[in-house]
Amino acid sequence: MEPETAVRTLTVNGEARTVAFPVHHTLLEVLREELGLTGTKHGCELGECGTCTVLMDGRAVLSCLVLAAEVEGREIRTVEGLQRGNELHPLQRSFADLGAAQCGYCTPGILMAASALLAANPSPTRAEVRAALAGNLCRCTGYQKILEAVEGGAALARGEDWQPAPESLHGSPLPVPEER
Ligand code: FES
Ligand code: FES
Repeated sequence: MEPETAVRTLTVNGEARTVAFPVHHTLLEVLREELGLTGTKHGCELGECGTCTVLMDGRAVLSCLVLAAEVEGREIRTVEGLQRGNELHPLQRSFADLGAAQCGYCTPGILMAASALLAANPSPTRAEVRAALAGNLCRCTGYQKILEAVEGGAALARGEDWQPAPESLHGSPLPVPEER
């Protein structure tokens, strides 16, 4: 038996899109498969990895746990809608400048979770950044650069002149050997 089809008008990145999809499909599936917005990544589908994070009415949500049929009338924002015109979001700039992505699979979800944090709290402490990203797993970077990049993005968003620290880009200098 064919699954029941839902037809909904979803507001994604400021655009109203009317779309038909199997009624049981998640927002993650509809974003990627029906709307072609593949920036939102498909990970565990269990709410455990965070790579599918998008914004719904400004709050970070796991799109693999949201039924698309239930989001009509909500403002959905994906990583494709993070920059404004030709201008990258400050977090996109800091992640790029610092090299805070390796394979990049976790990056869209982290950018969205971090953007929700900065919208609510422009000057988060390291502990607040950690807490906001606690549900976003990364298998590559070891998190240090991610945390630094969120702090850098926050500084840029506040209009400060942030540059990555040289040791963040190139590592710390080797210790000078002691004279014997
Ligand atoms: S794919 Fe949604 S949390 Fe992993
Ligand atoms: S950069 Fe590869 S999973 Fe995070």
